[in-house]
Amino acid sequence: MTYQFLHRPRRLRSNPIIRSLVEENYLKTSDFVLPVFISEEEKPSEVLSMPGVFRWPISNLCEQIKDWHQKGLKAFALFPKISPELKNEGGNEILNPNSLVCRAAAAIKQLNLDVVLIADLALDPYTTHGQDGIVDSKGEVDNDSTVEILAKASIVYANAGIDWVAPSDMMDGRIKIIREALERNSFHNTGIISYSAKFSSSYYGPFRSAIGSSMDSVIIDKSTYQLNPANLLEAQRELALDAEEGADILMVKPAEPFLDVIKQARSQSNLPIAAYQVSGEYSRIMAANQLGWLDWKSCALESLVGIKRAGANIIFSYFADRLAKDL
Ligand code: PBG
Repeated sequence: MTYQFLHRPRRLRSNPIIRSLVEENYLKTSDFVLPVFISEEEKPSEVLSMPGVFRWPISNLCEQIKDWHQKGLKAFALFPKISPELKNEGGNEILNPNSLVCRAAAAIKQLNLDVVLIADLALDPYTTHGQDGIVDSKGEVDNDSTVEILAKASIVYANAGIDWVAPSDMMDGRIKIIREALERNSFHNTGIISYSAKFSSSYYGPFRSAIGSSMDSVIIDKSTYQLNPANLLEAQRELALDAEEGADILMVKPAEPFLDVIKQARSQSNLPIAAYQVSGEYSRIMAANQLGWLDWKSCALESLVGIKRAGANIIFSYFADRLAKDL
């Protein structure tokens, strides 16, 4: 039986050439930021819940950066796992000009490669309690004293060679205070990539164990500062405030459960939009791959092109190093 249909949309899918001609969105290596864990350990160690992702001592990291750079990856976000004895309640190791992040930044810059270094700006790698800010006597994360230390830390990071600071703390007003601190200290070209719509997500678990900020089996509650996953309007307001306060790039995080927020961010702002495919998004794909239930590479690519299609210009992804050569 054959009909005379007016429309046969399958024509556009009938072979790889036409499929490629009509492709609407595609990933390229230069879309990606690779998040990188650095540690004081002597050897690289694999993150248990993130197969294929390692914590790198600075010496090995420099070798890796050269390798990644050759594959076309040029933007890296640094996350430190510092020694427990350097942590305290106030997280003031973040202000140490010789901290792990600062030493790593300086060492990478010595390679003289064209790379962009992004440093996450929050206290959680540095505090004993694992919160992103200063905890007051009532047990609450204090907004303004946290902003104050983060603004100081942005100068320490900029001095060490960090090109972009990425406040991931979700305190009120921090973008304005950080921008002013950078301007006052003549870091006019140090950019702010703001975690503007950062949700209180269960998908951060593997990351927290990677940087050693979570005590075993204790789930750290960050819901007094990170957004409720149910709220889109509130995310809109956060995005608007960060843009007003001087952010250069707005970020949505996690990515795949929040594609509508990415789309919203893209339509409401004319700033570049970043999305962070977080640790748990990575781990669930890798876990299913290990069980033989899903193929990691095709699932990763599908997830990432979805993030791009939703409107992200920049994607933070732990898959970036292994996908780079195929894009
Ligand atoms: C720290 C920070 C977190 C992530 C990035 N920066 C964790 C958190 O807020 O608890 C999560 C990244 C990931 O899960 O891959 N403020």
